[in-house]
Parts: sequence; structure tokens; C-alpha cells
Amino acid sequence: MKLRYLLIAIIAGLASVGILLLRENIAQRKLEARHTVFRVVELTEQTTDPAEWGKNFPRQYDHYRRTVDMERTRYGGSEADPFAVGADGVRKSVSKIEQDPRLKTMWDGYAFAIDFREDRGHAYMLHDQRETDRVTKRPQVGSCLHCHASTTVAYRKAGLEAGAPGTLADPLLSPTGREQLMKGFVIVSAEPYSNATQRVEHPVTCLDCHDPQSLQLRITRPALLIGLEALAHSDDPVPHLPSIGKWRQGNRQKPYDPNTLATRQEMRSLVCAQCHVEYYCASKTTLFFPWNKGLKAEQIEAYYDDYKFPDGAPFADWNHKRTGAAVIKVQHPEFELWSQGIHARAGVACADCHMPYLREGAMKISDHHVRSPLLNISRSCQVCHRSSEEELKARVQIIQDRTKQLMDRALDAVVALIADIEAARQNGVPEAQLQQARQLQRRAQYRVDFINAENSMGFHAPQEAARILGEAVDLARQGQLALRSK
Ligand code: HEC
Ligand code: HEC
Ligand code: HEC
Ligand code: HEC
Ligand code: HEC
Repeated sequence: MKLRYLLIAIIAGLASVGILLLRENIAQRKLEARHTVFRVVELTEQTTDPAEWGKNFPRQYDHYRRTVDMERTRYGGSEADPFAVGADGVRKSVSKIEQDPRLKTMWDGYAFAIDFREDRGHAYMLHDQRETDRVTKRPQVGSCLHCHASTTVAYRKAGLEAGAPGTLADPLLSPTGREQLMKGFVIVSAEPYSNATQRVEHPVTCLDCHDPQSLQLRITRPALLIGLEALAHSDDPVPHLPSIGKWRQGNRQKPYDPNTLATRQEMRSLVCAQCHVEYYCASKTTLFFPWNKGLKAEQIEAYYDDYKFPDGAPFADWNHKRTGAAVIKVQHPEFELWSQGIHARAGVACADCHMPYLREGAMKISDHHVRSPLLNISRSCQVCHRSSEEELKARVQIIQDRTKQLMDRALDAVVALIADIEAARQNGVPEAQLQQARQLQRRAQYRVDFINAENSMGFHAPQEAARILGEAVDLARQGQLALRSK
């Protein structure tokens, strides 16, 4: 009997301690929740330094800074080159052209054939651009900074210097703020890189994705604002961008503007589309995104084929050194390839996988350590998929291995075509046949490059990647056939 009372007393005692602990825990968490909206500093449209933002939002800032970390996955992540060290003593990331010399053949005569490396975290973007041989050994323009620095304030200052109305205190998205931005963008883009880069000091920072007052996501990059407007005017169906569909059904009197029309879920991808897209960036005209006919590989190609530079020349990034073909170099079309995949179709945004939610105390925050989701499968994928981590990783790697195998075939075919055209030139094959083969080289290598430059090794849209590579093999082999004596 006594034992029973004793037991009850002990249990009751433990329970009240438990309740007290729980209450304390809740109180603590409420306090934490309050802390995150506690304003330590006043953030304005001029606060480019992320450390200042970090005073109000220490958690996001802490994770943002972790983008310096490097960790390898089978096809992604990041890895330092054991041999290459920059002038400042910082290790460069591994060279992709040393790993695969076929790329040097495909890009012969273009800057990418002298230096092209594995991408790494956002913390490095400005540093890596300033030190690449593509910048130190070739002349480049200020356009390069659009996606490698916090340029929002720099553009506005340049716009104001050139006579745009208002002041830097105006909200960026006010009519005057926007006029400053767009005007400065054109000016900075045309400057030599060495001048323009002195206007900036940080990689992409808080201000480039967030409004300093409301903290809402926003688009600050001029080339995306212009590119989306062009896309809205095309007839490419974009079911994953419902605000464009809505705008198309309206009277179209005001231009499409993501900052007023896009949903929050769309913005969780569009902030990344400010940079992770195919572009034209050199000295013949201002940086642009080629989406006037749509986002698919062949729609972009068709736009380039119709495009004329201001001097009247047809579009090409360079003339291939060995074959003379007028060719195109594709750069990181992550947004475009994702657009063709099942995840985009299902409304899954870039941030869902690359900036998944993270619990810290009572706070649910977005992981600002942007990186490969394979380093973080539990939070990146398992919120939607019930399979085990190993199983999910295996599914990704099957897709990636298959893409890689097909890409190897396509790259071999392009390299074989290049060798054949080179030989045909020396053997006096008629110009008309050479021209036909060069045209096929342009189309074949554009497709290999599209998937090679895209950084998910096919994962963002597996079938679309295979379709594009299949076409590349076919076009390259057609090119070889075109050279046969008739
Ligand atoms: C459903 C999840 C998912 C979505 C949505 C998604 N990605 Fe990815 N992404 C991945 C996976 C998985 C990889 C492969 C990572 C690897 O190989 O380590 C990847 C790779 C990448 C890489 C290369 C990463 C590296 O480590 O080198 C970039 C850059 C990227 N994605 C950007 C984007 C952008 C931009 C969007 C939106 C337009 C997007 N992703 C949408 C899952 C996703
Ligand atoms: C539209 C946005 C955009 C523009 C414009 C742009 N970049 Fe990038 N750049 C990126 C993105 C996104 C990555 C990361 C993905 C990748 O490496 O494929 C990157 C990666 C890089 C890297 C690291 C990997 C590599 O390629 O060696 C260098 C260096 C670089 N860019 C240099 C330049 C130079 C030089 C210019 C101007 C000619 C330029 N970038 C213009 C978006 C851009
Ligand atoms: C201002 C341009 C810009 C914006 C905006 C941007 N990125 Fe990047 N991103 C880059 C550049 C440039 C690099 C390559 C940096 C380098 O290699 O030095 C990069 C690298 C990456 C990587 C590779 C990281 C690694 O460890 O290998 C991933 C993943 C990525 N970005 C995803 C995203 C996602 C997701 C978003 C949107 C939430 C986004 N980026 C927004 C320019 C941008
Ligand atoms: C490349 C774009 C990008 C940059 C740069 C960026 N953020 Fe974010 N941030 C996001 C996205 C995407 C979300 C999720 C927003 C949503 O779902 O509405 C977010 C959410 C937030 C939130 C809301 C709470 C949360 O975590 O979801 C805060 C606070 C925040 N960011 C602070 C910062 C700070 C501070 C910096 C600079 C150190 C920063 N962000 C840089 C894209 C960015
Ligand atoms: C926000 C939810 C969400 C997240 C996060 C997410 N997925 Fe998915 N995933 C989906 C949906 C929805 C589908 C389509 C399934 C359907 O409609 O039948 C899908 C489809 C897939 C498929 C089949 C692809 C195909 O082309 O048929 C694979 C593989 C996959 N996901 C892997 C991943 C991996 C790996 C991650 C993490 C990097 C991830 N998913 C993150 C929701 C998500």
C-alpha cells in the first residue's frame, strides 16, 4: 500500500517538473520567436553589407555564410583543386576542361577553352569571376557582374549619375527607383570589366532578393525583368508560371511584372532565375535572356537564329577555330531545364530543394546555405517523398548516370564531326557541303552544351535532357554524312 502512494507521489512529482520544464521551454521558444523580428539596425535600400542584415536576422546570415563550405557529390557539390591556387592563396575549384579535354575541342577559339571550373557556393561568386583566366586573359564587359555581385545599388548610383530621377532612398520598385536601376544597368554593362567591378564589393546579398522593409522576395535583376516580359509575350505554354498565364488572358496594357503579379511560390524560383539561366553577355549588345519564343532549348535556338546584333551581324558567340562554324555557347540553363520537368509542373520551386525549411528552436526558417540537395536529402526531399535517403539518392544517381552516358556519346559525336570538317577543309570538299556540315555542328554542339552547362546532370528534367542529347547525336552524325562525296 505504502509503496503505491510513494509511486503515485513520485509520478506526480515528475509530472509537475515535466510541466514546468515544458512551460519554460514554450516561454523560451516564444522569446526566440520574438527575437527574430527584433530590429537591431535600420535596413534601407542602401544596406548592401550582409553583416548588417545579419544583426536583425542572425540565423539566415549564419547559414548564408556557410556557402564557403565545399563538399563533393558524384556530379555536383564542390571540390577544391589540389594543385591550382589563386594569386590570393585561395584554392580554385576543380577544372572541368582538364577533366574532359573534349570540351576544349568543342570550344576551340573561345574563352571557355582556356578556363572553366566546377561551380561552388555563392560566397565565391565575385572572387571566382575576378580571378578566372576568362577575365584576366580576355577582355570582358561589366555585364558579367549582373549575376556575380550585389549590383542593385551600383546600378542605381550609375543611373542617378546619368540623370535618372529621384534619390537612392526611393524604394527600388517605385517608378523612380526602377528607372535608376534600368538606366544604370545599361551603363554598367557596357563598361570594361576592370572599371565596372570597382563599383561592387559583395557577392549576391540579402538586398538582391529581399525588400529591406517588408522582407518580401523581389526581383532586382534587370535582365530577368526584361526576359520575363518577353517570355510573357511568347506563346510558349508555361503552366508552372501561372501569373504569366493570367497576364496573357488580361488586356496586356501594362507590361508583365513579376514583382506585382507573381505568386510567392513562383518567386521562390524566380529569385534564382535572376542568374541561373542561359544568356548573351559580351560587347556587341547589353546582356539579355533569349526567351522571346519560349524557354525550351529549340525555342531559344530559334530566337538566336533570327536575332541580328545592332551592327546587323547574325547571332553567334564565336567562330569555331578548327571548322569556322558560327557557334553558340550555352551557360547554366537551370531555370529553363527545370521548367520542362515534373517538379516545376507540380509546383515545386528551386527553394523547396535548395533552401529547404529548417527548424531552429521555435523558428521555421529557410536554409540560406544554398547547395546541392544531395547533401541534405532529409530536409530537401523527404518532406515530400517517403522513400529512404539511400533510395532517393539512388534514384537521382540513376538519372544522372544515364544522362552522363548519353552525353558522352553526344560529345564523342560532336568531336568526330569537328575532326571530319577539319579534314574536309584540307581535302578540298566543296564549300556548300562544308557549310551544311558547319550548320549541323552549330545545332549539335548547342544541344550537348545545353545539358553539359546545366548543373543537375539531367535531374531537373530527365526526359527532356535525354531528348536534347538524342537530337545532338543525330545532328552530329548527319553532319558527318553531309561531308561524304556526292
Ligand atoms: C526537386 C528538387 C529540385 C528542384 C525543384 C531544383 N533542383 Fe537544382 N538540383 C537538384 C538536385 C538533386 C541536383 C543535383 C545535385 C548533385 O548532383 O549533387 C541539383 C543541382 C543543381 C545545381 C548544381 C549544384 C551543384 O552542387 O553543383 C544548381 C546550380 C541548381 N540545381 C539550381 C537550381 C535552380 C536554379 C532551380 C530552380 C529553377 C532548381 N535547381 C530546382 C534538385 C532540385
Ligand atoms: C545571367 C547570369 C550570369 C552572367 C551574365 C554571368 N554569369 Fe558567370 N555564372 C553564373 C552562374 C549561375 C554560375 C554558376 C553555375 C555554373 O558555373 O555553371 C556562374 C559561374 C561562373 C564561374 C565559375 C565557374 C566557371 O565557369 O569557371 C565563373 C568564373 C564565371 N561565371 C565567370 C563569368 C564571366 C567572366 C562572365 C561574363 C562574361 C559571367 N560569368 C557572366 C551566372 C552568370
Ligand atoms: C546574383 C546571381 C545569383 C542568384 C540570384 C542565385 N545564384 Fe546560385 N550561383 C550563382 C553563381 C555565380 C554561382 C557560382 C559561384 C562560383 O562558382 O564561384 C552559383 C552557385 C550556385 C550553386 C552551387 C553551389 C555549390 O556548392 O556547388 C547552387 C546549388 C545555386 N547557386 C543555387 C541557387 C538557387 C537555388 C538560387 C535561388 C534561391 C540561386 N542560386 C540564386 C549566382 C546566383
Ligand atoms: C538568392 C536569394 C536570397 C538571398 C540572397 C537571401 N535570401 Fe532570404 N530568403 C530567400 C527565399 C527564397 C526565402 C523564402 C521566402 C518565402 O518562402 O517566402 C527567404 C526567406 C528569408 C527570411 C524569412 C524567414 C525564413 O527564413 O524563411 C528571412 C528573415 C531572410 N530570408 C533573410 C535573409 C538575409 C538576412 C539574407 C542575407 C544574409 C538573405 N535572406 C539572403 C532568398 C534569399
Ligand atoms: C515539395 C514537394 C517535393 C519535393 C521537396 C521534392 N519532390 Fe520529387 N516529386 C514531387 C512531385 C509532386 C513529383 C511528381 C509525382 C507525381 O505527380 O506523380 C515528384 C517526382 C519525383 C521523381 C520522379 C521524376 C520524374 O521525372 O518522373 C523523382 C525521382 C523525385 N521526385 C525525386 C526527388 C528528390 C531527389 C528530391 C530532393 C532533391 C525531391 N524529389 C524533392 C514532389 C517533391
